[in-house]
Amino acid sequence: MRPLNWLHNEKLHRDRCVDAASGIVPREVVEEVRWFHSQLPGFRETPLRSLTSMAEELGLGGIWVKDEAERCELSSFKVLGGAYAVYRLLKRRLGEDGPLSFSELTSQPVRERLGALTFAAATDGNHGRGVAWAASMLGQRAVIYMPRGTKQARIDAIRGHGADVRVIDGTYDDAVEQISRDAQRSGWLVVSDTAWEGYEEIPRWVIQGYTTMFSEAQQQLAEAGLSAPTHLLLQAGVGSLAVAGVSFYLGQLGQGAPKFVIVEPTKAACILESARAADGQPHKFPGNLDTIMAGLSCGQPNPLAWPVLRDCAEAFVSCPDFVAARGMRMYAAPLSGDPRVVSGESGAATLGALSFIMQAAGSTALRDSLRLDQKSQVLLINTEGATDPEHYRQVVWEGAHPVPPEAFDCAQT
Ligand SMILES: Cc1ncc(COP(=O)(O)O)c(C=O)c1O
Repeated sequence: MRPLNWLHNEKLHRDRCVDAASGIVPREVVEEVRWFHSQLPGFRETPLRSLTSMAEELGLGGIWVKDEAERCELSSFKVLGGAYAVYRLLKRRLGEDGPLSFSELTSQPVRERLGALTFAAATDGNHGRGVAWAASMLGQRAVIYMPRGTKQARIDAIRGHGADVRVIDGTYDDAVEQISRDAQRSGWLVVSDTAWEGYEEIPRWVIQGYTTMFSEAQQQLAEAGLSAPTHLLLQAGVGSLAVAGVSFYLGQLGQGAPKFVIVEPTKAACILESARAADGQPHKFPGNLDTIMAGLSCGQPNPLAWPVLRDCAEAFVSCPDFVAARGMRMYAAPLSGDPRVVSGESGAATLGALSFIMQAAGSTALRDSLRLDQKSQVLLINTEGATDPEHYRQVVWEGAHPVPPEAFDCAQT
């Protein structure tokens, strides 16, 4: 089985990217988002890890990993978006334009003005957990819808924040549709990490919330003596995380921004397939989106993210589950001197993909077109830790989803 499907972006429009990106993340928002996050209880920066020996092994100048497994107590970056969107929603309900501190938001008079609210989100795990966590911090309720087949560990993690969790008989995309209908009837405030017609403001805040991670990473890189990465590999479900990274870097560095590579599961490659359709439109990915990369198991690109990714990504890559599983094991068994990184299925997809880009016989053209070589400094985001601990052990201890023997020799696709 082929380790990668990929498309080099013939429609790259770097010249219109900076403007497109600033429509999603205006430069001035980045500081405000970071300020808001810094006040959250228990908040601290996540580490940026350098995998020096791994970079050497793969023929790269450096691999830098922003380790979101250590984000608050939640083991994923997702809380950054959910919490910031909840903050903006509350500010709007209070009619406040300026910054509101966390202690003001949780003060008795403000709580009385807000009354009892219910936040609602559809999730395949991490986003819902972030929204439930933010709601509980603010003394409010959360209702979370999850797709059929969701692992019990992911459900329990969200219930642990006091949320009402409902598993629906459908995919993540069905959960998104169902919660927006139910919320209208019940008066819940939907905090979605994807947009649809007439519902764009909140998902834009979610995307803006993710920029804290890139802003921290950029500062940490500078402290390590590097002005910027040359490449940024971003895993995508609906593409909100990816567009946050792309928009952040284009806003900060303009034409000096790194090359962006989007990585998805083969079974849920809605962004790659939309790019392949070459009509400029986002397309729904058919099928049951069955992949171990639960956070990336999405069939519909976020319409806010799609136009920016379409114009600004250098390449789109999809990979089967064994690629992510290899990434998990590579992180878990570091080469000499490198730190160990605990990385879940969606978190490890980009390291797995990078290893096949650099090492598989069929990837030469992709490697060359991306100019990935010994001068490259590659930034990866470990977007989650072991959020499904049982499956993590199956992969890392028992070797589930092994790499098929022929994978490194497969012809190019
Ligand atoms: C761990 C993890 N990584 C990556 C993603 C992808 O984010 P997006 O759906 O914004 O593309 C998700 C989404 O839930 C996730 O949970």
